[in-house]
Amino acid sequence: MRVRTHTNPFNYYHRLEKIVLADIFENTKCSLDLEIGFGRGVFLRNYAQLNPERNIIGVEIRKVVVEILQKKIAAGDLHNVFLVHGNGEIFLEDALEDNAVDRVFIFHPDPWFKKRHYKRRVINEKFLETCVRKMKNGAKLYLSTDVAELWEYMEDFLKKHPSFSLVQDDVFWQTYYQTHWQDFSQKDHRSCFLGVFQLSKNS
Ligand SMILES: C[S@@+](CC[C@H](N)C(=O)[O-])C[C@H]1O[C@@H](n2cnc3c(N)ncnc32)[C@H](O)[C@@H]1O
Repeated sequence: MRVRTHTNPFNYYHRLEKIVLADIFENTKCSLDLEIGFGRGVFLRNYAQLNPERNIIGVEIRKVVVEILQKKIAAGDLHNVFLVHGNGEIFLEDALEDNAVDRVFIFHPDPWFKKRHYKRRVINEKFLETCVRKMKNGAKLYLSTDVAELWEYMEDFLKKHPSFSLVQDDVFWQTYYQTHWQDFSQKDHRSCFLGVFQLSKNS
């Protein structure tokens, strides 16, 4: 069994300036995607390479992993990726304009098993409210986890939400989804849960 250690997101509460997309991306007409908690960045790099016509921002709370990935991104000459060190929830709320984001990715978020720590889980009421404002109508939220209890919790939250509905996107999972996390899941005999939730602002 892996011992999971987590960084408390509430330790990163600093408010952020709005980001000007033209300052960070060469082409601002591209779709805009956001990954929260990219860890080693396996998905982020692969996805950015395969989708040069999309811009992707990655936000990660652990500074050291941001620095490591930044070097790899620079060496790989990827111009459609921008990395931020900080709390992804605050970044989405403060730094991006409303109706800006096409896809939000949250893969293997920290599970925060104790009930008194549930408020640290990234899928929470306030975060989904922010998603509704910042994501475009029809935008999608992609989630994965190998923690059954966390999956039930997240799925329940989203199924009850009036603006999100569960949809299929098999092409996405087959073509773009990559993570080193599956090695841990297999070792611990854990199944992986994958889900896509589409936002409808008309409901
Ligand atoms: C379990 S790891 C998964 C990493 C990666 N997504 C993957 O699938 O391999 C969760 C990551 O999310 C980061 N994280 C947790 N809460 C965060 C938050 N509020 N904002 C940004 N990053 C966060 C952690 O530091 C950690 O790197």
